[in-house]
Amino acid sequence: MASGKVRDYYKLIRRVTAELDSGSPIDRFSATVVRGIARSTDGSASLLLLDSTGKKLVHSTSWKLPLSYLKKGALDAKKSIGETVKKQPIAVPSVSRSKRLQYRQYALDAGFTSILGVPILTNGKCIGSIRVYLKENRDFSNNEIEFISTMASLMQLALEHQKSINQEQRLTAIEPEEPKILPMLTKVKFVHPSEEEFASILDFYNIEWVYEPKAFPINWSENGAVTQMFTPDFYMPAYDLYVELTTMKQRSVSAKNKKLRRLRQLYPGTKITLLYKKDFERMLARFGYGPLAQTKGHGVGDVLYSAAQIQRRVHAIAKEISRDYEGKVPVLIGVLRGVLCFMSDLMRNVSVPLNLELMSMSSYGAEEGGVVKITKDVGMNLEGRHVIIVEDIVDTGITLTYLINHICLKNPQSISVCTLLDKKARRLLDVPLDYVGFEVPDQFVIGYGLDFKEEYRNLPFIGVLEQKLEA
Ligand code: IMP
Repeated sequence: MASGKVRDYYKLIRRVTAELDSGSPIDRFSATVVRGIARSTDGSASLLLLDSTGKKLVHSTSWKLPLSYLKKGALDAKKSIGETVKKQPIAVPSVSRSKRLQYRQYALDAGFTSILGVPILTNGKCIGSIRVYLKENRDFSNNEIEFISTMASLMQLALEHQKSINQEQRLTAIEPEEPKILPMLTKVKFVHPSEEEFASILDFYNIEWVYEPKAFPINWSENGAVTQMFTPDFYMPAYDLYVELTTMKQRSVSAKNKKLRRLRQLYPGTKITLLYKKDFERMLARFGYGPLAQTKGHGVGDVLYSAAQIQRRVHAIAKEISRDYEGKVPVLIGVLRGVLCFMSDLMRNVSVPLNLELMSMSSYGAEEGGVVKITKDVGMNLEGRHVIIVEDIVDTGITLTYLINHICLKNPQSISVCTLLDKKARRLLDVPLDYVGFEVPDQFVIGYGLDFKEEYRNLPFIGVLEQKLEA
């Protein structure tokens, strides 16, 4: 081999190690490596990296590769020329005769006659490849292969270094912060009025919250700089839950959903929920606020469960409770008024002796800016008792969470929850349900005790409310 070539190799190795030492950004470093290899082999070169699925090899930086060749798409790592599987340099001395090239025609169209692939390995695992493409019919020399393998090792060091920088940035970004603000103490400046309304509902239920608690980095440039952040609107420390409100149109919601998926992927332990405009408006309407509060009931749409179906299900639940509480005397606690029909049918079908308690709570909006008030509390001593909370419907789970916390303070021996209806799709706070009658769709339901603006409670069946905006 010509001594000039060897000198070129040494020069390039020196330059690349100096760049590595000076902490050159990864994109600049990759370009130096790829360009240097292409020049010293009189060919074209490319750095391919495994994508996040570990199945595809994607061109990351290339030199003198025609656009038509780059556009051929990602390479299947398993089907690629093999160095990723065999973990050693693999040469294709004749593109025209090769059977193992995935995009042979593209290579032929680009005028390539031979290709060399050298794996980039970390702890014996292949994370990418350096490819060299020649337009002349010749074999790659051992020196050439040695030189490109050395470059692949330096590339691996740079990639690993970059990975640790990214991780560090991610870690500092997700370092838990001191809760900054408690709304009851500090006046928060909300970006959107709906956020303020949501905060007042949480205040009403005595749920601690933090507004825009922190920013999660979700995208980085190749040199590790954060290019995109996601700041959820609320954090509820007691439930370790982030909530993002969206009052936007469906098209923008899709982009938000994408960001949320990315956040969940990057920070798998983080619980975050998106509250859609429709759900939020329904939540407000329940308390007499927001645009949906202006709707009028226009009778029943679909009947979801007939009186007979309800009775069958209530009997089945009562049987389960009777079996589970054999030898005990549970206290059934219901919250007025929606639970009335369900409670009276349920208790009459439970065969073990039981006690009954009814509670009532003031509803949000009754007193502007107030907090939830138990207007009728449990009268009996619950210490050491087995409590069954009986609910008509669990929607966001906020009421039930509040109730469980309230009853816990009375030191019962156990608490379980029995609900006739479970509107699971709208759950905000995760609450354990022990007995469930029916899982209902995400629609406003009425009848069998459930009301809309105090009407429809006396229907013997459960149906969907037809709503129309008031003229
Ligand atoms: P949560 O706090 O969001 O789980 O709401 C529970 C309470 O909201 C129930 O006890 C009901 O009073 C009321 N609610 C929720 N969804 C409906 C519905 O579809 N029809 C009637 N009342 C409902």
